[in-house]
Formats: sequence, C-alpha cells, structure tokens
Amino acid sequence: MAVKRLGILTGGGDAPGLNAVIRAVAKVAESAGVELYGFLDGYSGLIRGNFRKMEKRDISGLLHRGGTVLGTNNRDNPFNFPVKEGNELVFKDMSDTALENLRMLSIDCLIVIGGDGSLAIARELTQKGARIIGVPKTIDNDMQGTDQTFGFDTAVATATEALDKLHTTAESHHRVMVLELMGRYAGWIALYSGVAGGADVILIPEIPWKMQKVAEKIFARQKEGKPFSIIVVAEGAKLPDGEKVVRETIKGSGDPIRLGGISYRIAEMVEQVTGFESRATILGHVQRGGSPSPFDRILATRYGEAAAKLALAGEYGKMVSLKNGIITWMPFEEIPQGCRTVPLDHPLIQAARSIGISFGD
Ligand code: F6P
Repeated sequence: MAVKRLGILTGGGDAPGLNAVIRAVAKVAESAGVELYGFLDGYSGLIRGNFRKMEKRDISGLLHRGGTVLGTNNRDNPFNFPVKEGNELVFKDMSDTALENLRMLSIDCLIVIGGDGSLAIARELTQKGARIIGVPKTIDNDMQGTDQTFGFDTAVATATEALDKLHTTAESHHRVMVLELMGRYAGWIALYSGVAGGADVILIPEIPWKMQKVAEKIFARQKEGKPFSIIVVAEGAKLPDGEKVVRETIKGSGDPIRLGGISYRIAEMVEQVTGFESRATILGHVQRGGSPSPFDRILATRYGEAAAKLALAGEYGKMVSLKNGIITWMPFEEIPQGCRTVPLDHPLIQAARSIGISFGD
C-alpha cells in the first residue's frame, strides 16, 4: 500500500525534544511526497477532530523550541474520554470515534509521541485495528523497551544547574539544602543530576533510606570542615516509614497521583535530627521546559526519522527505541509492562557510592 498521508500527535506531559521529533517526521514525510496532519492537544484532537495540515512553514524553527507546537494533555484517554452531559462530566469509550476520524481523514499511519500512558493507549487502538507507530518520550526516563527517552538529558541539565546554584547559598549560610526532583516512581533524574551536581546525599524510590544515615553524612561533612550539605530527593522516594508524599489526585487522569512535597518533610527532619538549618526547593515543571540539549535534539531527530521511515514502510504497531546506541524498534505487545526503575546494581549508583555519596541506606 502506498502511504499518502501520515498523522502525528503528542500526548502526556511535555518534554524537551517533542518539536524536534515533529520536525524530523515532517522532513522525512515531505521528501517522500507524503502529507502530514497534526492532531492538537494529544488524543483530544483525534476525538474532537481538531487537526491541521503541517506545512513547511509550520516546521521551521522547531529544532531548539521547548514544549510542543501541537499541544498536549495528560488526561484525555479515548477509552475513558470526558464528555459533558448537562452539567455533569461523564467518561465514555470514544475509541471508535478515534478510529473513524483516522479513516475519514485517510490517515495511513498515526505517529504517537508519548510516555507509557499515551503508548498504552496506542497499543489498545492498534488492537482495534489502528495503524500506529510510537515514539518514547518522558523526562522521567522510566519507559520500558528503550534505553533512554528524549527529554531526560535536558531535565538532568536543568536540575544540575539548580544544584550548582543551591551549592553557593548552602555554603554561605551553612545550611542543608534539599532539592526535590521529578521522575515519578523512578530515580533517574535524581541519580544523574545528583552525581553531576555534586550532591552529598541522593534519595531515590529504589533505595529505602534512614534519617540516621543521612544525619551521619551531614555530621561527617561538618567534621571535615564543611558545615553544609546538599540532599537530592526524587519526588517518588518514600519516607523512612514507607509513606509516599502525594501533592494531589487528578480526577479523570489515567495516572491520577501527582507526587510532591517530600523535600519539605525531609528538611524538617534534618533540622530536628541534626540541628542544621535546612531549606527545601521543589524544582517542578522547570525540568520539563526550555530548549532541548544537543543530546536530546539528536535523539529526538533519530527517533522521528526512524518513526517516519517505519510508517512509510508500512511497519505499524511498533515503538522506536534506543538500544546500545542504535535506533531500533519493538512491537507494542513485546514492551514489558510497568515503570523502568533504576536497577540497584546500576554502574552510576556504584560510582556514586565509591566517591562517598550517601543513598541514606
Ligand atoms: O511524567 C512527567 C512528569 O513531569 C513527572 O515527572 C511528574 O510527576 C508529572 O509529570 C507531573 O505531572 P503534571 O504536569 O500533570 O503535574
């Protein structure tokens, strides 16, 4: 079947590099003489029929731009789609509408750039007959089936810069600074930026920790003449008693729990146990914004090129992936379920321990 028209959408939380993927797909499509239709605001645009034909001018100046020019959202799931009935919001299975819209627009293949939620939906739509290629995205780097997602490298750079800034104020005030980073239930961002930013303690969901051990590290530094310390904590790390700190629960979201706030709890505990004045910073959505790093621009471009080529070759139902530095792909049904957490024997954990970083264990 000769491919004439591709569709594209970005779903879930944004990540630096989304526009670079869109650009690469558009360029490959253009040189193959294939049209590209962009659906707006994630799956919402596919259900509501909000789309636009991507012209040459739409992809100019995209490589370095953060966010997504197509818009995104992390609520609207076609299988559980919010519909207003009178004054009430009810959730309905609108997946048939998604398939019908793809048919009506003669989209030969839809490229979905998204995290685990958006790609789980892509997989379900594929089972119903849709032709989809997935591109793995998230700053959290927690997706199964690929060694790295784009967006992660930029988030690590942003967090590292924040750590550099916290260092100078921590040292001046002889304080303990606690920096809370995103990552959901995986500690990738905290581990990488903690090492890059010279953290003294890194607390991640994968490693249970004790306040006493954190305090020992702070006192050891004081003894060495360094009466200040930097603690990096992943938002998904649990408190020593196993409590997960939740900021809010979002109704209608496929992943309703929003983590956040553990840094304040840790700063309080540090003050109580060590007597050191402590402050907490939640870096938040700054980690998702801004211009993608060169690494993310390259990875996003490679993913976009590979996704477009798979689509043109009629190879549907697959996610592009990075394995040992090489771009390859994986059928949706072979992607393991669940979150890709940091393995306890990860070389960076070993290296961090060897240079004296404490994981509070
Ligand atoms: O998955 C990306 C991410 O930024 C997580 O690190 C974070 O927990 C979550 O999204 C925040 O979601 P929202 O933008 O809905 O607050």
